[in-house]
Amino acid sequence: MKNTYRQEYHLMPETGFLNDPNGLCYYNGEYHIFHQYAPQGLSAQRGWGHYTTKDFVNYNNYGMVIYPDSVWDKNGSYSGSALIDDGEMELFYTGNVKQPGNHDYTLSGREQNLIYMSSKDGVNFSEKELLMTNDDYPENCSCHVRDPKVWKEGENLYKMILGARTRDDRGEALVYKSSDKKHWTLDKVYTKPQLGYMWECPDFFELEGKTFLCCCPQGVEPKGIECQNIYQSGYMIVEGDELSEFVEFDRGFDFYAPQTFLAPDGRRIIIGWFGLPDVPYKNPTEETENWIHCLTIPRTLEFKDNKIWQEPIAELEKLRTDEISLSLEPGKINILPKVQCEAFINFKDKTDSFDISIRKDINISLKDGVFTLKIGDSGKGRTERSCKVDKTDSVRIFSDTSSIEIFVNGEVFSSRIYEEKDNSEDFTVVLNSSSQGCDLAYYILRPFEITKIS
Ligand code: FRU
Repeated sequence: MKNTYRQEYHLMPETGFLNDPNGLCYYNGEYHIFHQYAPQGLSAQRGWGHYTTKDFVNYNNYGMVIYPDSVWDKNGSYSGSALIDDGEMELFYTGNVKQPGNHDYTLSGREQNLIYMSSKDGVNFSEKELLMTNDDYPENCSCHVRDPKVWKEGENLYKMILGARTRDDRGEALVYKSSDKKHWTLDKVYTKPQLGYMWECPDFFELEGKTFLCCCPQGVEPKGIECQNIYQSGYMIVEGDELSEFVEFDRGFDFYAPQTFLAPDGRRIIIGWFGLPDVPYKNPTEETENWIHCLTIPRTLEFKDNKIWQEPIAELEKLRTDEISLSLEPGKINILPKVQCEAFINFKDKTDSFDISIRKDINISLKDGVFTLKIGDSGKGRTERSCKVDKTDSVRIFSDTSSIEIFVNGEVFSSRIYEEKDNSEDFTVVLNSSSQGCDLAYYILRPFEITKIS
């Protein structure tokens, strides 16, 4: 582990705090990735940072572009989305205001303002416009109503979904409609028993003829190996007024507040915050390197095998440089040159059992239909996560300085890891056991090229 936790191919803050991806879209020949950002750190008010890219390898970094500088968002330009329409980029987000006084900020004292901005070039933004305030939300809502995701549904029909907490602590998604993007009326409310007291960062989209409602519920009880993190992020299929079973997007320790968007070629891509709020452990980058969190790699969504199936976006193959191919012999310690890598493990036939160690203290295994990730000391107290997985013919691991993202049968385990710094740079793989012979295709991944635009 070299002498820093800074990542090489994940978007992260130069300094301070990063959380949710915002305003993801493709506009004027480029992808736009905004994100929640507080360069002065967690206690500062958040605004939006902004990256653009044509290829997910070379990026422009515009730094902070939306500041919490108006009366409507003075305690944070919170999360929101982008709509590309009539040749413009239109942004919708929540302005957070905390009123002075003795408040619990749930039932009183918090304003959640719907704010609109537009851009004709994707980098210069109009004045802020206030579209909605707490008075416009349903009466049974608490002060927590936020994170608008807006989309176009037909000629002159626009929809917006907001996450909400009711006054009696139920998570809800409010769907609004509009014909002019400025005046919104409530169209539908979705909720689900036992799915928490608050739904953050909702999303709504179609995939292979099915409609999906996504959200990040807070207050869900863990069920066996499911829903183990403090807060969840997942999806349900919309069946009329009903929502199907909630399914988690990620099975690792660090994934929250994702947003999806459509690429021009029709792919639906998801990017998540590679972190969670209110976690019971300290992230060592904050104390020693003055930055915290990053975004996940982008991944494509498909509906396959009756679930949302995720794969890393193909563009990441452009990060590959040197390749080493070898067959994994049981018990042999394979030391590969760099920890910033992709390790693609292929089994000869589909396997229902294996046990593999990687890096310093990570173990992945498949046994009795359950895939398990175990992390030792580098998990900083986070030890084990599992998920049901059928027989599989491959495991694909993206390893960066302080993270791993493991893809198996369309499931993903995203976890930050903090190995002791000792100036070593290698990536170790040991096949402990397997029901099938297997090969490793190992690629060193080169860092993102990031140009700072001031
Ligand atoms: C989710 C979230 C959102 C909010 C934003 C503030 O992580 O709490 O609900 O808009 O972060 O940074």
